[in-house]
Amino acid sequence: MSRKRSLSGIKPTGMPHLGNYLGMIRPAVDLQETHEAFYFVADLHSLTTTHDPKVMRQHTLDITAIFLAFGLDPERAVFWRQSDVPEVTELSWILSCVTSMGMLERAHAWKAAKDRGDSGGQPHGLFAYPVLMAADILLYDSDVVPVGKDQIQHVEMTRDMAEKFNRLFGDSLKLPSAKVQEEVQTIIGTDGRKMSKSYNNTIPVFLPAKKLRKAVMRIETDSKGLEDVKDPDSCNVMTLYRLFADAESIAEMEGRYRAGGYGYGHAKQALFEAMDSHLAAPRERFEALRSHEDTLEDVLREGERRAREVALPILERVRSVTGLGRPTR
Ligand code: TRP
Repeated sequence: MSRKRSLSGIKPTGMPHLGNYLGMIRPAVDLQETHEAFYFVADLHSLTTTHDPKVMRQHTLDITAIFLAFGLDPERAVFWRQSDVPEVTELSWILSCVTSMGMLERAHAWKAAKDRGDSGGQPHGLFAYPVLMAADILLYDSDVVPVGKDQIQHVEMTRDMAEKFNRLFGDSLKLPSAKVQEEVQTIIGTDGRKMSKSYNNTIPVFLPAKKLRKAVMRIETDSKGLEDVKDPDSCNVMTLYRLFADAESIAEMEGRYRAGGYGYGHAKQALFEAMDSHLAAPRERFEALRSHEDTLEDVLREGERRAREVALPILERVRSVTGLGRPTR
């Protein structure tokens, strides 16, 4: 039986943080073992906010090197730059024509802009964002879409668009499902809230050891002293530790919390060590990969070739059922 296809995109908006890594990058890379992995750098989506061409190119290569550093195997997986397959913008327009304004107005990001009172000044690209994302997914007959929790709504909208299209033109688009990592639904930041750039509580995925240690030491805890008994289930340090340590070490630290005589400083040091041992090798690989831009571009070009091979017949199918383009004989 052929494998199901896993597809996802990540925006090139600077160094990803641990929330991006645990919530999306790690699960996506793991899926290459069981799925046909299709991942891309969503530069067209980034264009709603990034208006510096140098930054766009740098960040695109950063993301490429990061995926490879974390073990994405370009022989098996297909990894490309979204804008290298411009057919996606054609499908996006076609989907736009069957998507209601009402649905797009319910999108979280748009609603947030409305609540801030500045939706009128937002680019149309922000409003149309979910349509382009649906095109990303539907252009490749994707089965599963590994995403962070915040993207579930977009995948649901994608299904709605596909259903609407199929009702109008006959079954031609495959309905995908979102795949959210249960254990890491929401990664917390240094202040205990969801890790997010807008809260200024992120830990970038690749920091030199010293800076990583500093960031870990900044994690907020309650003010219990060294001797006090502590609650492992309501502690930010423990929550992050669970994502990096093995079961045995986790149980051990929980015991120390409950026993008392174990301070948050100790816990943070242990967390730092667990993170650093997990991230040190990928960090080194990243540095090595990142210094060979031509090689990264070669990976993207080969990804583009293989992505197109899948996309073109699907777009052809869509054109044909909608009556667009020259009839195929
Ligand atoms: N919107 C996603 C994000 O902000 C990125 C993205 C673009 C994406 N296209 C996609 C994710 C298609 C999954 C599938 O994280």
